[in-house]
Amino acid sequence: MEQFEGRNAVVVGGGSGVGQGIALALAEAGARVLVGDIDPQSAADTVARIGEAGGRADAATVDGTDPASLAALAAVAADVLGPVHVLVNTVGVIADPALPDATEEEWAWFHEFHLMSPIRTVNAFLPGMRANGEGGHIVVTSSMAGLLAMSPTMTGGVNTGVYTVMKHAVMAYGEMLRYELEPEGIAVSVLCPGMVEGNLGATSGRHRPERFGGPAPSRGEGMPPGAMPNLDFGRLVVRALRANRTFVITHPETRPLLEARQRLLLSDFEFASPD
Ligand SMILES: NC(=O)c1ccc[n+]([C@@H]2O[C@H](COP(=O)([O-])OP(=O)(O)OC[C@H]3O[C@@H](n4cnc5c(N)ncnc54)[C@H](O)[C@@H]3O)[C@@H](O)[C@H]2O)c1
Repeated sequence: MEQFEGRNAVVVGGGSGVGQGIALALAEAGARVLVGDIDPQSAADTVARIGEAGGRADAATVDGTDPASLAALAAVAADVLGPVHVLVNTVGVIADPALPDATEEEWAWFHEFHLMSPIRTVNAFLPGMRANGEGGHIVVTSSMAGLLAMSPTMTGGVNTGVYTVMKHAVMAYGEMLRYELEPEGIAVSVLCPGMVEGNLGATSGRHRPERFGGPAPSRGEGMPPGAMPNLDFGRLVVRALRANRTFVITHPETRPLLEARQRLLLSDFEFASPD
């Protein structure tokens, strides 16, 4: 999608961090944005920032893990925006149990938020996008953790196993969806950022549903110094959508890690066929 003027976008998780940066950048590029978030105040804050910058946006409250709530958001989008051309989901959570210690409840929580939320968001909006016949672009959120498997020594002792499993699943979902929807003129891109300004350490616990144990204490506000400003990331995403990139990758300094993983993988071809 090269032109965002006159286009309509929905960002589920748009009240903070990565989603907020994308909502701001889409509006800056000329799109009208519906900011969906489980936290009405966060969604309203993003809308206010868009308004201050001269853009057009509306806020809606949505539980991005609930098919009925997403169906209601799709109906609101049809009323408020008309056709939806850009659909973004950035819902996610963070916690760091070691893989053998992760409970059934933690696995289910991660599965719902990282994988089922984008799947349910696409399923709620795709019929409308297809019916509009105007093409479109879907964005799902993986991570650099969807491209790598980082040992605790690489992460300062933090277990990223459950998160990494889910982000690999989102990679596969987004990439396969891209193949399936390409013939219909609907593009799909997968976000694979490194550290971007966001608040997942706090929002994960704040919005943990009762079915997964209810609200949990914050793991800390914000991101460590050096995180990419979320608007900069949003602008990169807009550039990637214009160029119809499959993946959106941020920090070039992580490239050697990705190359090392590929070398490890490829070395097993040599192991399998030594001659
Ligand atoms: N920030 C980073 O460095 C980074 C890096 C890689 C990947 N990611 C991924 O980006 C996504 C967003 O991370 P972030 O750092 O921007 O987090 P964030 O906490 O800043 O933003 C998440 C937003 O989602 C909302 N939300 C939570 N539960 C929701 C629900 N059920 N329905 C709708 N909205 C809900 C929150 O209220 C919040 O506004 C996650 O999937 C995360 O894994 C983030």
